[in-house]
Amino acid sequence: MSFYVTTPIYYVNDAPHVGHAYTSIAADALARYHRARGREPVRMLTGTDEHGQKIADTAKERGTTPQAHADSVVTRFLSTWKHLGISNDDFIRTTESRHKEIVQDVWRRLEAAGDIYLGDYEGLYCVGCEAFYTEGQLEQPGNICPDHKKPVSLVKESSYFFRLSKYQDRLIEHFEKNPDFVRPESRRNEILSFIRSGLRDLSVSRTSFSWGIPVPNDPKHVIYVWIDALTNYISALGGVGAPLYQQFWGADDATRIHVIGKDILRFHAVYWPCMLMSAGLPLPRTIFTHGWWTVRGQKISKSLPATKVDPNLIADDIGVDALRYYLLREIPLGLDGDFSFEALIGRFNSDLANDLGNLLNRTVSMLQKYVDGVVPEPVPALDGVGAHATLREQAVRAKAEAERNFDAIAPARALEAIWELVRGANAYVASAAPWTLAKDPARKAELGHVLHTFLEASLWAALLAAPVMPGKCAEILAQLGVPHLAGKWPTEWNTMLPPGTTMATPQPIFPRIDEPRAKQLLDRWIPPEAREGVPAADGVPAAIEDQVTLKNKSAPAPRPPAAPTAAAATNGGATLVSYEDFSRLDLRVAHIVSAERVPKKDKLLKLVVDLGGGQTRQVVAGIAESYAPEAIVGRRVIFLANLKPAKIGGVESQGMILAAGEEKVVALSALDQEVPPGTKVR
Ligand code: MSP
Repeated sequence: MSFYVTTPIYYVNDAPHVGHAYTSIAADALARYHRARGREPVRMLTGTDEHGQKIADTAKERGTTPQAHADSVVTRFLSTWKHLGISNDDFIRTTESRHKEIVQDVWRRLEAAGDIYLGDYEGLYCVGCEAFYTEGQLEQPGNICPDHKKPVSLVKESSYFFRLSKYQDRLIEHFEKNPDFVRPESRRNEILSFIRSGLRDLSVSRTSFSWGIPVPNDPKHVIYVWIDALTNYISALGGVGAPLYQQFWGADDATRIHVIGKDILRFHAVYWPCMLMSAGLPLPRTIFTHGWWTVRGQKISKSLPATKVDPNLIADDIGVDALRYYLLREIPLGLDGDFSFEALIGRFNSDLANDLGNLLNRTVSMLQKYVDGVVPEPVPALDGVGAHATLREQAVRAKAEAERNFDAIAPARALEAIWELVRGANAYVASAAPWTLAKDPARKAELGHVLHTFLEASLWAALLAAPVMPGKCAEILAQLGVPHLAGKWPTEWNTMLPPGTTMATPQPIFPRIDEPRAKQLLDRWIPPEAREGVPAADGVPAAIEDQVTLKNKSAPAPRPPAAPTAAAATNGGATLVSYEDFSRLDLRVAHIVSAERVPKKDKLLKLVVDLGGGQTRQVVAGIAESYAPEAIVGRRVIFLANLKPAKIGGVESQGMILAAGEEKVVALSALDQEVPPGTKVR
């Protein structure tokens, strides 16, 4: 069974920013996880999309040729991926001849299937998206592209068409038979209803410019850039029939996963599978669509240079792994999120410096102090009792949960589970108190067991987190004296760390970022123009931080106005609403699957709730003064699912859980029967 994971190939009209880095890091963590599980062979692919009108126009603006332009920008992608620890096995450029040949081969296959015909195209084209639009899909008046906010251009030329419409029914059938074809579920439903609304044949060649791959036998036409680009996933394998193709694409049991951003779902989930069906080739198994990052609340765009956060700069200052951790931990992969420098530093200090760094430092230092740095023997009789057993169970659970969630492409949840182990290990050290045991020679064996146990737990945490933080986890393994375990996965408890192993001198791996350093970093990272006018991500007025009394404009609370108007019906002073008003609220049963404190916000908890059908939402609730995070995980609550998203404490909240209480929440809503998540509440 092979495992093949790809990123989109990035346009070379732009240097890589944190949004691009996100996709590559997510795909890389998956590849590393599957390698660690011994799932050979694993292959990861990324690359660059270098043809098309957009690149030709950019090169022209810069007074150079498209090829010279691509050659210079591609080096930025190559060096950034190297810097960020991306472990791609290949890097494909669409201007390479190995790619061009396969694109023409695929074209011929579509032609042989009778799916290509010549016609005239008259329609609307957005160069930014390299996509065709109908008037109904554009913002009116003025035919404005909804993504680029610029008018599209009218294109009128002779063009080849691909019979996309012919595949509509087969594609719908494929979606129905393969519920995992597009994930998450919400994206699947969205694209499926697009397909059901009717597919029109696609214009697949252009004659008005020449920067592309010529149509075989008609070189006046260049092949539409998306047909060219999508083919990269098989051209990099050598094309149909080549050995790598057979192994990673052609084999029935090959797992083929495309990780993409939500902006390019239509191309991957409609055009690409129809092309493959026409060519008689297998389809990808899953197209995993992640959400969109804004930066300090704004869309990343060329016109706002401050939003184009350079991942290299952050990696230089606080380490690649901290950035990787933040991006994958902060937001569940399918959801949108806001990149906040303050939250990045917050996570660094709490999760990395305090939890993981502290664990390692304490473990290795105590080993040096009490047993000269040599790992002692565990005591089998102690393993199954009290706190020792609890930690072992936590480790076994963290491993199982990490596996379940990495397998399900849910790295944020995998990390959450791993951090429960990290925190559990810190609590174990505190309760087992090795410093007390060390004073009593009669308890030497017990001390040895405690030291061994928390070292083993640190080792497990490092191995489990390594797909996300490969560099720092390898450093942890080196400090624990087992560098050869890098890239491995834990097996049995208490077998990973051989007694007798000698540890190195402890080195802090995540030195805490203190206030002056944080200020210095923020000054470096946030350009002055971005500081004016744009609210800091967590500069939200305290008044709106209590979700229960949420009143800001972008997220109107679903409650009657405080002062009823004379015309409003009232009932003892409270405004009466019609059933119609009430029915506009989408109330659902939600299960709380995780909860954690929002750094520096005493009242807030950040929750992830399960709404059934694979849908999850992140929500910020002003309940931290009444509920500890661990006390509410697993509860079933009533959830308002159609509240406009809003930032609370710098964190996006996508809905609201209902609770009782005025100033302070006194009780969470609950249901008196077990009902599945997503059930409607009326
Ligand atoms: N060249 C096409 C893809 C062809 S794939 C056959 C393209 N390139 S792109 O350079 O615009 O990169 C798109 C991808 O970069 C997105 O799909 C997404 O994976 C990533 N992102 C770019 N900006 C992003 C955010 N702001 N947030 C999250 N991901 C982002 O489209």
